[in-house]
Amino acid sequence: MKIVTIIGARPQFIKAATVSRAVTEYNKSLTHNQKPIEEFLVHTGQHYDENMSDVFFEELDIPQPDYHLGIGSASHGAQTGRMLEEIEKVLLNKEPERVLVYGDTNSTLAGALAAAKLHIPVAHVEAGLRSFNRQMPEEINRVLTDHIADMLFAPTQTAVENLKNEGISEEKIFLVGDVMYDASLYYGKRVTEKSNILEQNHLQPRQYILTTIHRAENTDDPVRLRTIFEGLSQIAEEIPVVLPLHPRTQAALIRENLYKTVIDSLVVIPPIGYLDMVMLEKNARLIATDSGGVQKEAYFYSVPCITVRQETEWIELVDMGCNILVEPHSLVWFIREIKEYVSLNGILGNCPYGNGYSAKKIINYLSHHQTV
Ligand code: UD1
Ligand code: UDP
Repeated sequence: MKIVTIIGARPQFIKAATVSRAVTEYNKSLTHNQKPIEEFLVHTGQHYDENMSDVFFEELDIPQPDYHLGIGSASHGAQTGRMLEEIEKVLLNKEPERVLVYGDTNSTLAGALAAAKLHIPVAHVEAGLRSFNRQMPEEINRVLTDHIADMLFAPTQTAVENLKNEGISEEKIFLVGDVMYDASLYYGKRVTEKSNILEQNHLQPRQYILTTIHRAENTDDPVRLRTIFEGLSQIAEEIPVVLPLHPRTQAALIRENLYKTVIDSLVVIPPIGYLDMVMLEKNARLIATDSGGVQKEAYFYSVPCITVRQETEWIELVDMGCNILVEPHSLVWFIREIKEYVSLNGILGNCPYGNGYSAKKIINYLSHHQTV
């Protein structure tokens, strides 16, 4: 079976690493008359800095992309449109039986749309997530992708319900768990010997707060941006606050004349590889973030989490009481009072994100749907 996988942004490299490893294992397990899965990787180039892209291919052993489209940054329409055009050429050339897309970025939508227009079946990993906020570009991307796809790999029961509520046939929906949980189990064990990020930044376990902010609703709203970073600077007078800085956020801080204050008060570092990131997450006292992936990783490593957003797609974490949604103006207060609001007691006993075999399940379903 020939599959083309479309990736382009940081979290997609991590997810694809896990699934591509499962493809390799599946192929190794075949007997002589069974057909292997042949996977071709397309990197759209949505993320292109060394530390937003190459580092993940190197340290997570992802095969080098078969096609690198080099699209780069642009407005939503221009970026998605250019991807669509280039992905179509690859699909016409490769004629895959299926296209595999991940998550909710512009690369996801472009991949799904290019395939659907050519009548190539689409499988969507991380289907069914909803914030119910259509102002988010990601919400538009994921809704459209889900309605184009014919195989929807849902990470949670909530995601399954969301899809059913939108009228998507149950036959297309596969509850597989979260491939990011697989990744956290696989790489989480390996980081201690591979990362010295704590030493490099003179950090002691549980003696710092980790923060990541990159969501457009926070970076592109000057009031929210200022309130978040003034709050974090205030907290940094009490405990180190470590910030691996996303390029979008760096640009926004410079634009709003906040950059100097932030680098003077926080431990600001460039975006880091996944293993360093996991090391920072595992040892943080608390994580304050607007990232989807980081919210879950906080839970996987039993670290209390504050999500600086009005809603989350990973609602189970809030329902279980190990994550709390906080508006920028109350961030400082909640960081100080976190123990009153977030409890991690016994949370991993009933993980809503599967059992660490999501990628394997995806590959099993894909291989059994070869004739669809
Ligand atoms: C994208 C996804 C978002 C995801 C995030 C993961 C969309 C609509 N958004 O947001 O869902 O959470 O990736 O990190 O697809 N830039 C660089 N170097 C890079 C990449 C980006 O400097 O390697 C800068 C550019 O100025 C660019 C800006 O960051 O304009 C935003 O990048 P873009 O890929 O458009 O969106 P993200 O905010 O990264
Ligand atoms: N991440 C990383 N280095 C960083 C910041 C994040 O490896 O400097 C990882 C993080 O651990 C998680 C993923 O990138 O696995 C999340 O990506 P991001 O926050 O960019 O996107 P989102 O999940 O919000 O779409």
